[in-house]
Amino acid sequence: MTDTSPVRVGLVGVGGICARVHYPGLKRIPGVALVGLCDPDPQLLAQRSHDWQIPATYDRIDALLRTTAPDAVVVATPNAAHREAVLGSLESGCHVLCEKPIGMDAAEAIDLWRVARQAGRRHMTAFTYRFIPAMRFLRHLVHTGALGQIRHARFQRLQDWGENAIGWRQYRSLAGYGELGDMGIHRIDLAESLLGPAVAVCGAQRQVVERDRDGDGRPCPRQDVEDWVAWLAEYPGGVTAVFEMGKLTKGRSPDSGHDVAEVNGSEASAVYELHHPHQVLFARRGEPYRPLAVPEALLKAPGSPRDPGEGDPVWTCRYDQAWEFVSAVRAGRECEPSFAAGARAQQVADAIMAACGERRWVDVPGLEA
Ligand SMILES: NC(=O)c1ccc[n+]([C@@H]2O[C@H](COP(=O)([O-])OP(=O)(O)OC[C@H]3O[C@@H](n4cnc5c(N)ncnc54)[C@H](O)[C@@H]3O)[C@@H](O)[C@H]2O)c1
Repeated sequence: MTDTSPVRVGLVGVGGICARVHYPGLKRIPGVALVGLCDPDPQLLAQRSHDWQIPATYDRIDALLRTTAPDAVVVATPNAAHREAVLGSLESGCHVLCEKPIGMDAAEAIDLWRVARQAGRRHMTAFTYRFIPAMRFLRHLVHTGALGQIRHARFQRLQDWGENAIGWRQYRSLAGYGELGDMGIHRIDLAESLLGPAVAVCGAQRQVVERDRDGDGRPCPRQDVEDWVAWLAEYPGGVTAVFEMGKLTKGRSPDSGHDVAEVNGSEASAVYELHHPHQVLFARRGEPYRPLAVPEALLKAPGSPRDPGEGDPVWTCRYDQAWEFVSAVRAGRECEPSFAAGARAQQVADAIMAACGERRWVDVPGLEA
């Protein structure tokens, strides 16, 4: 029997990702009630309230928590505001789904994980790409031994965000990292879900452009983060992987940008591509790659109310993230991925930053509970 017990959810930060993934994902889950919205931008808040028919709006999270007393909160603010929102929500007894990177650095992320565990609430990191069916199938192929012994892998996320200002993402004080925290952190997590914990990393990063004008040509403070980053990583058993992420690769627009993960094993290779979410490419020795359809059972998270044929699957498959969160809240079990994965990814990110800065290999510490 499907559990449709009521879960009352507040949305904190109702910008881009809330509208594209969190709101539509939660909205279609029977029993979920969206009880309030919080955002300091009054125009956006009014628009979302109207579009989503959610009358309770707040410019501060403490007012949302006090007035609506939600069971759970989704935090989708700029990274610098995650900490206050997560701690306030936990203190009010809420379960929390927080956007990535959960903290401004590994120390902050590890602390949020500790507080969430002590509060005994469900905690989840929005590593959304884990829910792409092709990634679920790639993980299945790796973990069932279909590729043989894994030898190496490569991850690329290349986009074209243009050369103008891109808001809070371009400032270290608001984002913590540049491209490494924006796109890289997902690939750090995907790689660990495929290959195990990273052991050591080396890398390079560049701030390529200034981004000191907005789209209308008005001046704004220059960006102070990297917009390109690449790294090598070693995993248990001598497995290696190569990563490259960039926001300035013309020909790759933000939506259709390039996102690939390729794993090479002793028996076969397989490739995930975001833009073909219902297949992976697969090849044994001497064969060219051929598409393999994602099996029916892996097209969505178990029990998810989503129809895999609905809408643009490059986006709709991400709604399974909300299903995982609500299912874990209802069952009183750990979310997958929890804040532990969020904290772990930031340990690796901090090691990559150190390696880039010091121009050497850096060992990645283990995550201790
Ligand atoms: N998981 C993913 O695939 C994915 C994709 C995009 C963004 N993100 C993450 O989601 C978060 C938001 O990114 P976005 O692209 O939606 O940004 P955005 O700028 O579109 O939206 C952020 C919203 O938060 C609001 N805000 C700012 N401070 C706040 C506060 N203290 N309390 C409540 N609201 C506040 C802003 O007014 C804005 O409306 C970031 O952490 C980002 O890294 C994740």
